[in-house]
Amino acid sequence: MHLPVQLSILHADQHDEVAELLHRSLVNWYETRLGEGHRFGASSAGFRLFPELYAALDPGEAICATDANGKVRGVCFVHSRETHVSIGIVATDPDFSGRGVARRMMEMAVDRGRAQRKPVRLVSSVMNLDSFSLYTRLGFVPGSLFQDIEIFIPDTGLIYPPPAGVDKIRRASNTEAGRLADLEFKLQHIRREKDYAFFLNNISGDWQVWVYENEAAELCGFMVCNQNSDWNMIGPGTALDAQVAEALVWKSLDHRRGKTTVILVPCSATSLVSALYAWGGRNIELHVAQSTEPFDSTSGVTFPTFLPESA
Ligand SMILES: CC(C)(COP(=O)(O)OP(=O)(O)OC[C@H]1O[C@@H](n2cnc3c(N)ncnc32)[C@H](O)[C@@H]1OP(=O)(O)O)[C@@H](O)C(=O)NCCC(=O)NCCS
Repeated sequence: MHLPVQLSILHADQHDEVAELLHRSLVNWYETRLGEGHRFGASSAGFRLFPELYAALDPGEAICATDANGKVRGVCFVHSRETHVSIGIVATDPDFSGRGVARRMMEMAVDRGRAQRKPVRLVSSVMNLDSFSLYTRLGFVPGSLFQDIEIFIPDTGLIYPPPAGVDKIRRASNTEAGRLADLEFKLQHIRREKDYAFFLNNISGDWQVWVYENEAAELCGFMVCNQNSDWNMIGPGTALDAQVAEALVWKSLDHRRGKTTVILVPCSATSLVSALYAWGGRNIELHVAQSTEPFDSTSGVTFPTFLPESA
């Protein structure tokens, strides 16, 4: 039976409610299905990052579902880019689950993609059959598979020496958003200059962007890192090949000493996966890219993240 919810655009005065909803739905789902609710900590406070970041980057795009009393029962972050529409985290209040709330929010998001004549893309957990099924029932097609690798970097840094090419990495300047977007378009066929301008302008002070250039000063890769203490992932990033990818990952991890970090690595990037295992990395999840249009063949190595969602 479908419960009556109303869909509307998320507003700033609902951010606390959304943080609480995200935390509660994730803890509930991972605890009841996998016994791993502890992954998301005891407090919802850190989850304010999601509505706050999306409101700063894409004001007026996030969808929420409210009940008859105006209480938020579902949320779906939407993010329109030059080449596609991207979906961020989707969550339904556990008391309202299985009643079509997420499907209705997602249908609204897919309609936006259709209106803009763009594919809709996302990254979905392979361990979460509810969300996997939600998306594939709506016509999403699975593409590349990613390993979520968790790694702790000691205060003294990795004991492994820097791989070749680390000396070619520098901090990006705030005029390079177009270059980063062009490289991603060339390799991965998606473009999102607005995101890169947002990271490089760095109003929150949380963002670091590393770029790798070859001897001819050509851009070969980049990695974005969010240093906020409530966020433990690195990415998004893109690299021309496995060697550039390994150097960028090493450099980014070296700047996260004393912290546990999660990175999504394509399962096909076998040499990088082996390096991460050697450095102490452990698989904690698997994700798959999904799109409403079949994926065409891409090149290079890509590192998606969930904040902002990037696929
Ligand atoms: C995943 C989640 C958002 C689903 O929300 P929901 O409101 O319960 O989902 P809905 O009821 O709208 O839709 C679920 C759909 O998947 C289908 N479905 C679920 N499990 C399925 C399965 N094993 N096989 C086939 N279909 C399945 C349901 O039939 C339904 O489709 P229908 O409406 O066409 O019948 C919710 O479980 C949640 O918030 N989980 C925690 C947060 C999370 O993991 N989010 C996803 C990561 S981004």
